[in-house]
Amino acid sequence: MHISPLPDIAAEVQDFYDRYPYPRPIDNLDRYRSQWLERQRRRADYHLFWPTRSYREDQSVLVAGCGTSQAAKHGMRWPAAQVTGIDLSATSVRRTEELKGKYKLNNLEIYQLAVERVSSLGMSFDQIVCTGVLHHLADPDAGLSALRSVLKPGGAMHLMVYAPYGRTGIYMLQEFCRRIGIHANDGEIRDLMGALSALPPGHPLESLLSQAPDFQHEAAVADALLHPQDRAYSVPQLFDFIEKGGLTFGRWVRQAPYSLDCGLVAKIPQAARMARLSLPEQYAAIELFRGTMARHSLVVYRNDSASGPQQVSFADDAWLDYVPIRMADTICVQERVPPGTTAVLINQTHTCRDVFMPIGATEKQLFDAIDGIRNIADIVERTLSSSHRTTSLTLARTFFKRLWWHDQVVFDASQQSTGV
Ligand SMILES: C[S@@+](CC[C@H](N)C(=O)[O-])C[C@H]1O[C@@H](n2cnc3c(N)ncnc32)[C@H](O)[C@@H]1O
Repeated sequence: MHISPLPDIAAEVQDFYDRYPYPRPIDNLDRYRSQWLERQRRRADYHLFWPTRSYREDQSVLVAGCGTSQAAKHGMRWPAAQVTGIDLSATSVRRTEELKGKYKLNNLEIYQLAVERVSSLGMSFDQIVCTGVLHHLADPDAGLSALRSVLKPGGAMHLMVYAPYGRTGIYMLQEFCRRIGIHANDGEIRDLMGALSALPPGHPLESLLSQAPDFQHEAAVADALLHPQDRAYSVPQLFDFIEKGGLTFGRWVRQAPYSLDCGLVAKIPQAARMARLSLPEQYAAIELFRGTMARHSLVVYRNDSASGPQQVSFADDAWLDYVPIRMADTICVQERVPPGTTAVLINQTHTCRDVFMPIGATEKQLFDAIDGIRNIADIVERTLSSSHRTTSLTLARTFFKRLWWHDQVVFDASQQSTGV
């Protein structure tokens, strides 16, 4: 499929990614494949998007603005799914085709197509993944509406867009490049990398540079500092953006950094006052307090889905029927833990160092009983003494809610039955 003429800015973005494809092209997905062979990882991923739907693997997936490898990865991750990748850049499409051929990904189709024109495929999708793309569009609202128009009712969308405060140093360096007329070509980028290595200590870009090994590579430097089109969304701007796009917020892909109950935010004197705010207002305040968020990664649904958004709730007794599934990349540390603590639970994908979960001996028993099969009622029944039922249920409710907010578990809430 070939694209018809695009607005100037899209043509400029296309040319940019043809020359500097991002992420860096890779030709080996062996390690990725072996990770996703684990059924538990796939179930945890599925129920993060659809807690109340029964598990299945044959969904239709659109990877919009798929770059060099993301669509191939989804094709590999979900062999029974039909995966479609689209990207404006010929280089990205070619790289994805190469991976498709190498790994015989017969469930993957790839098109050189603009997000804004996705409806021309005449298809609709259970899941849409669009990460690192909408903030590069001349009209992100139009892009999001186009995606919404091909999302099935009950479907889920994974979006990632830039966040402003953690990118302050990037925007300063972008402005630096604009003022002195630095352009995206190999020589200028090499010189720019030289300048970055001489940045003074304390520069707002310093921490991003040290956290992102990616900055050693030319395409990453070009993507961050010389992109022709780049905007960022604060939490309130993001909520406006998704509402205008006919969508509704589901959850953050990693929610602990936004939670009032996790990490250092839980301990500040204003925490109780913040708890009286609505959740979006809490998220907005926490983004300002943390100050380092460079992107927002979230799950959204159509705002007209008959079943409503897929919600996890501890308000009534439904939580007792939830089956907790451990999230991938979580670890339980038992050595050198703080006094009075049995273990510390960590999600290794968190970049905020303060977000970890200390647990006591009884909580550790509940944690150890999580096998991805038993529901919470069953876990409580087997683990806690039945003589103090109300106390046990209160403890369990608090504990599983904390586990969920700390990104230790997702819930399969598709089998609501009796409770205890
Ligand atoms: C930063 S990369 C992100 C790639 C991938 N989504 C990921 O997260 O690894 C942005 C990609 O979006 C593509 N892109 C930018 N504007 C687009 C548009 N209007 N339609 C389709 N793709 C677009 C670029 O060609 C590039 O491959």
